[in-house]
Amino acid sequence: MKLKIALLPGDGIGPEVIDQAVKVCNAIAKKYDHEILWEKTLVGAAAIDAVGDPYPAETHEICLSADAILFGAIGDPKYDNDPKAKIRPEQGLLKMRQQLGLFANLRPTFTFSSLIDKSPLKQDRIDGTDLVFLRELTGGIYFGEKGRKQDGTAYDICTYSAHEVSRLARKGFELAMKRTKKLCCVDKANVLETSRLWRETVQNMESEFPEVKVSYEFVDAVAMRLVQWPSSYDVLITENLFGDILTDEASVISGSMGLMPSASLGEKTSLFEPIHGSYPQVAGLNKANPLATILSAAMMFEEAFELQQ
Ligand code: IPM
Ligand code: MN
Repeated sequence: MKLKIALLPGDGIGPEVIDQAVKVCNAIAKKYDHEILWEKTLVGAAAIDAVGDPYPAETHEICLSADAILFGAIGDPKYDNDPKAKIRPEQGLLKMRQQLGLFANLRPTFTFSSLIDKSPLKQDRIDGTDLVFLRELTGGIYFGEKGRKQDGTAYDICTYSAHEVSRLARKGFELAMKRTKKLCCVDKANVLETSRLWRETVQNMESEFPEVKVSYEFVDAVAMRLVQWPSSYDVLITENLFGDILTDEASVISGSMGLMPSASLGEKTSLFEPIHGSYPQVAGLNKANPLATILSAAMMFEEAFELQQ
């Protein structure tokens, strides 16, 4: 196969972990007779420094025309402590998600037996944990109207359409069918109207997937049960902000968030990235573990190219 991959190393440890994943991909391509065309381009603080935009139009064009995107990390401490900064690296990430329509963020948590004692949880709690979050990634409070009123009050509005919920939920049902047919819809339907729409929409889809057993659980309870009985979960679907928070929590169950891969699936193309972020403290020191990026590349072969083997 000919594979065109957009390569976005980004910031911090991004470039060094990406370098290692590229070596693995090239070795795989050689062994299985695929041809990879890498198109390296700028994103994040690196793009701000070079062209003043964290997600330049040229990067978008390269991503759009690629079969998949392999991405390192975004973020630079020089922007973190300046709430007034007009341009931030993270805007590049959000723009990229929105413009590429990457609506479904797949974040697995599984354990490595050799690292099980690195987990903050007792081993008998985490044995057998193998769960996947499907986080909605292009809607909700992240992308709603936001601002300051005249009296200085700040607001961020959360909206969801039934279409946004059902296309994410469909991926959840499909994934559940390939796994243990267990799906958990995480919401706050006892308080939020958007959550009631989530629950209603997912309930309406249950008849299409009669074999999938769906549970509906409130986000606060899931936050608790994730550390009490992580192995009781399989596929979890949730909205953008809940997913942001719970996937960080879930990621450390395996010992370190530095080890987990992720995929952001869209209608046109998909993006694969380690979830650890830019970890600027060790950037350039050759200390960062590239495993999460290599596993993200593996997800790319499976999800984007259907090259499981
Ligand atoms: C993530 C990150 C991003 C998010 C930030 C960097 C904007 O925390 O990918 O989870 O909140 O989605
Ligand atoms: Mn996050």
